[in-house]
Amino acid sequence: MTAIAITAPGGPEVLKPQERPTPVPGKGEILVKVAAAGVNRPDVLQRLGFYPPPAGVTDIPGLEIAGEVAACGAEASRWKPGDTVAALVAGGGYAEYCIAHESHALPIPSGLSMAQAAAVPETFFTVWHNVFERGRLKEGETLLVHGGSSGIGTTAIQLAKARGARVIVTAGSAEKCEACRQLGADVAVNYRTEDFVAITKNSTGGAGANVILDMVGGDYIERNYEAAAVEGRIVQIAFQGSPRANVDFRRIMLKRLTHTGSTLRSRAVADKAAIARAVEENAWPLLASGRIAPVLDKIFPLAEADQAHTRMESSAHIGKLVLTV
Ligand SMILES: NC(=O)c1ccc[n+]([C@@H]2O[C@H](COP(=O)([O-])OP(=O)(O)OC[C@H]3O[C@@H](n4cnc5c(N)ncnc54)[C@H](OP(=O)(O)O)[C@@H]3O)[C@@H](O)[C@H]2O)c1
Repeated sequence: MTAIAITAPGGPEVLKPQERPTPVPGKGEILVKVAAAGVNRPDVLQRLGFYPPPAGVTDIPGLEIAGEVAACGAEASRWKPGDTVAALVAGGGYAEYCIAHESHALPIPSGLSMAQAAAVPETFFTVWHNVFERGRLKEGETLLVHGGSSGIGTTAIQLAKARGARVIVTAGSAEKCEACRQLGADVAVNYRTEDFVAITKNSTGGAGANVILDMVGGDYIERNYEAAAVEGRIVQIAFQGSPRANVDFRRIMLKRLTHTGSTLRSRAVADKAAIARAVEENAWPLLASGRIAPVLDKIFPLAEADQAHTRMESSAHIGKLVLTV
């Protein structure tokens, strides 16, 4: 099969088509003939050499796919060849065939194309787990999302609004702020020209945000503590700034804050299966009814994965980038 390999750590040009053996599904796994694969920021980090695949996982990048089940391994009973699925995978999505654990695959919500379906698993699993399970966001509460126009951000805006929360976002341009408002964000802060702490406080009557989803870190850590409400929950999912910060921790005590975080890829099979069940129960009906939809920025052929990475690193995109096979 043809796959996109990371031929050396480096720029987008190191992504090159290569012939690789078609993988064979093991116990509890399915082989999927990939129709489309989502592109995520962690793929860029892997390409740069900063995010190696977990032990035993293919070196081919790609964390989410949509396609048709081609074969089932031993004891894999949920799916049969010919079924169409969207699946979270630990790697290997940028290829004609990819292995998924059967419990990490979900039926394609009605009305979604393969490209749309491929754009769903990584961000929906991440947002569901971090905003609603770890962050315990409730109806009527306020969520502050950094990077509102990202794949993660556009998912968080839609899920939080659909579940009755108020949403404040940060984004890096007026155009991106407007796109976030169009998706349902109540307040959009251009972080290059405005102060998200002051605007979060002002737009919540001084109370602050109940949950903050942060992918930036660095000096945002202390500012998140300032922007958080009493009993606020701050959930860290990445550090696009520094993973280190000099922070006055007194606010954790005074406001009784919780600062937590997680990373999806390295979680146990059973943990991801539990998240998959929760996503299927809570988010799939919203996708199937058309109430929410993945935001697709641009679709590239698999052979042009380097161009998809170039676009992601330019940060010109709004929403998701997808490869079609
Ligand atoms: N922990 C997990 O399980 C997990 C899973 C998936 C993804 N992630 C992480 O989540 C992040 C988003 O992933 P993605 O695939 O959606 O990537 P993406 O679309 O490339 O998003 C990156 C976003 O970061 C924003 N950003 C950068 N600096 C910022 C700042 N100072 N203030 C506010 N926003 C800032 C960018 O906004 P502008 O373009 O407007 O600057 C952009 O929207 C990545 O860091 C990724 O590694 C974590």
